[in-house]
Amino acid sequence: MGASIQIDKLTHRFHRHATPVIRDFSLEISAGQSLAIIGESGCGKSTLLHMLAGLTQPSAGCVRIQDKRVYRPHPEWNMMFQSPALYPWLSVEQNVALGLEFTGQTRGLKAKVAEMLERVGLADRGRARPHDLSGGQQQRVALARSLAVSPEVILLDEPFSALDAFTRRALQREVTQIAHDHGITLVLVTHDIDEALIMADQVAVMGRNPGTLRSLLDVSLAYPRDPKEPAFKALRDELMSRFHDSVSLNSAVTACGVSADDGSSVVSSA
Ligand SMILES: Nc1ncnc2c1ncn2[C@@H]1O[C@H](COP(=O)(O)OP(=O)(O)OP(=O)(O)O)[C@@H](O)[C@H]1O
Ligand SMILES: [Mg+2]
Repeated sequence: MGASIQIDKLTHRFHRHATPVIRDFSLEISAGQSLAIIGESGCGKSTLLHMLAGLTQPSAGCVRIQDKRVYRPHPEWNMMFQSPALYPWLSVEQNVALGLEFTGQTRGLKAKVAEMLERVGLADRGRARPHDLSGGQQQRVALARSLAVSPEVILLDEPFSALDAFTRRALQREVTQIAHDHGITLVLVTHDIDEALIMADQVAVMGRNPGTLRSLLDVSLAYPRDPKEPAFKALRDELMSRFHDSVSLNSAVTACGVSADDGSSVVSSA
């Protein structure tokens, strides 16, 4: 079953006297809910996710998962990174089995691994090594490893960005379905507005310099969601407009003298 997440006035500086990358970020996510986070490149999305995972300690404020303050990673809170992070010397099956072994879920391990590989479309690649797979296939192995342990929380950092459009859509639906079936709380960072609207109950738009919560959009559409539906299109327009407002505000903040640390400005919606 999923766990609630409370983000309370989170602030993070990478160096003591540096401008904060994230400032005063507060948000609550109920158990079993899904939140997507969008925002310009460099606004602090991955940093925020690392703090939720207990991989980075905030400079101020705190994260609580199921009312417990997060100080370090926990096996029931599963993070999937922008790159797949597989062990190259282990086979695909062994990589998927790792999470189950770490969490002591070794009963029926072989069958579970086979089921997860089937779900991500890699049933016939169990014996392969990661370097024998494409980037997208490696990402699917990492996804199978994350989902196999039925975690309380899954934190996904652009998990589908290396996949072809067809596989991406299929996995977005599959992960959403698995999260609902098991009541998993999902936090997804993405640059893809349709992905956010397909997968999330709420979408947070972040501003940058420093990274703050600019707006929160409720997506009250039934699952599975169809991007061709008029209600979906209306929400896409709304989200695009909020995103562009946030980018304009970011530029205004930068022009007022707060330093921008990279030159990027546009997040693709594709
Ligand atoms: N270890 C670090 N030390 C110093 N600064 C860092 C470090 N990691 C990230 N940053 C800076 O913090 C800011 C936020 O980085 P982060 O990776 O969280 O952005 P992001 O929103 O995930 O970007 P993207 O969409 O490109 O993945 C960036 O300006 C980045 O340069
Ligand atoms: Mg990132």
